[in-house]
Amino acid sequence: MNPDDIAFSFADPNFHNNPTNVMGLLRDKCPIHHTSTPSAHFTLTREEDVTAALRDEKIWSSKYGPGLAYSEPGVGVLVSSDPPEHTQERTAISRIFKASTIEKMEREITDLTNQLIDDLEENMSGDIIKEFAAPIPLTVMCWLLGTPTTDIELFRSWVLPMAEAVAYSGGRGASDEVKSAYENFFEYFGTHIEQRKDLLISGQDVPEDLLTRLLTVTNDGKELSTKKILGFCQFLLVAGSETTTLMIGNVLHRLMENPTQFELLKSNPELIPNAIEESLRYDAPVHGLFRTNTQEITIHGVKVPVDSKVCMMFGSANRDPNLWVDPDVFDIARDPKTLRNHTSFGVGSHYCLGAPLSRLEGKVALAAIIKRLPKLRANGSPTQTTAGVLKGFSSLPVRWD
Ligand code: HEM
Repeated sequence: MNPDDIAFSFADPNFHNNPTNVMGLLRDKCPIHHTSTPSAHFTLTREEDVTAALRDEKIWSSKYGPGLAYSEPGVGVLVSSDPPEHTQERTAISRIFKASTIEKMEREITDLTNQLIDDLEENMSGDIIKEFAAPIPLTVMCWLLGTPTTDIELFRSWVLPMAEAVAYSGGRGASDEVKSAYENFFEYFGTHIEQRKDLLISGQDVPEDLLTRLLTVTNDGKELSTKKILGFCQFLLVAGSETTTLMIGNVLHRLMENPTQFELLKSNPELIPNAIEESLRYDAPVHGLFRTNTQEITIHGVKVPVDSKVCMMFGSANRDPNLWVDPDVFDIARDPKTLRNHTSFGVGSHYCLGAPLSRLEGKVALAAIIKRLPKLRANGSPTQTTAGVLKGFSSLPVRWD
């Protein structure tokens, strides 16, 4: 097969119908792939290429953002910045996301999860995404950002178009839905931030949450600007909710599809963290994200002009036979020491700060399902997410008895 014949883009339904096949072909025949659809970009799919690039942030910059479109440098935070700004931004919030801080939330997340199952239990069927996998991380984000948990539906209606926009080509590509999601987000959080500022100024008690941290943290004596704080809230809301929803849906889907693995887990609940990890490896909730190269570079004989958008395909690195034995087999009993080498939380200096939180949410959610709905099974066809860079379901009908 001529490498040029391998069709791949996040806009191509063929990719979403069979990502394993397309990624396998790319790794074998075309490890640096170029397409002009929907706009020009390259894609790296081999594990060693993806991890080497992500560890070399001098060449592989985040300044134009993690999406396909070129965002304006200096405007976004974290995944849209390079050192020294990136280091300062990460330091500003890393305390909140430390594993030891996150572990303290286990009780509250367990209560939330049980409450959701109480509501579900009365029926014999439901949509496990809408009624379980989505509310968990969204509610946790409300706790962190200090907003009412009754607003989770509203937040999800902004997060989904924002996540879809990561695969857009930019400019006129941004739909009215995306624009209005951003406008509504800025209006809501603009007011929310002002209210918290007023509380802080008046000396009243404020929650010790992420928002208070963002409003009080200083770097060289300077506080973060309101624009930056809005940027943090927007990114964290998107990064911290839909990804974890997909992960919970993906692991449940694979267990229902593989009854032997489901039984193994039910009789060995200590494998729960491993099942979450294997799900992350097997079904990376984020297929891939972009970098731009700060200098011209040649990879596998292909010249990549400076400032090209290059997708780092986490999902493909996780299935690379050079690193994984039987990569296309879903096996929750893999060696936990090597399993964490998957790239689903990224690699290098941008490694996901929310990894301990999403692992905890996944662990608690899976434990609750095994205990309370052990006979969970599929009940009709799932619907895939429409966000191009994401992998998982927007709806997953299930039943139990
Ligand atoms: C299963 C769930 C999740 C997945 C698959 C995921 C995936 C990722 C990936 C791939 C990156 C690297 C981005 C890059 O290299 O450009 C990342 C970064 C990040 N994630 Fe997550 N994430 C998840 C959950 C969360 C949660 C729950 C939060 C917080 C509430 C979060 C916060 C962050 C932050 C702050 C960064 C940026 C780190 C930086 O740029 O230094 N993520 N995530």
